[in-house]
Amino acid sequence: MPQIPEKIHELTVGQLSARSGAAVSALHFYEAKGLISSRRTTGNQRRYTRDTLRRVAFVRAAQRVGIPLATIREALAELPEERTPTREDWARLSEAWRSELDERIKQLNRLRDHLTDCIGCGCLSLANCVLSNPDDVVGERGAGSRLMVERGGNGKG
Ligand code: FES
Repeated sequence: MPQIPEKIHELTVGQLSARSGAAVSALHFYEAKGLISSRRTTGNQRRYTRDTLRRVAFVRAAQRVGIPLATIREALAELPEERTPTREDWARLSEAWRSELDERIKQLNRLRDHLTDCIGCGCLSLANCVLSNPDDVVGERGAGSRLMVERGGNGKG
């Protein structure tokens, strides 16, 4: 990544993109979503303060672990005076997000196990297939094939 001389306090979108590794379109998207902001020059060009680099790094790191943009925006908005997240901010937020990530991994493991039950089945039955009917309370106890075993069913849902 190209270095930006210390004396430069504002970055063009191209510089921000090159330095952060985020595509220009992604930076425009982040701005549209209120994650970063810029000022406009008289020629209507965007200029970002240098600390935007850290904000972009924060957003990208959070996105990599699957944190939704809305959650990232909320976290940034809660910082006093919407300051750029410090090392301590990131430590605190990443700790909180870790438990969300653990929960998501658990859900994905559950889905994977249910998918295993579906392989070679193909019924997609609302009564028996947990992936077809994920909100089914019975589904919480296990995959459809287990339900059929419990009921002594014949597999015709
Ligand atoms: S397809 Fe999911 S249990 Fe049959």
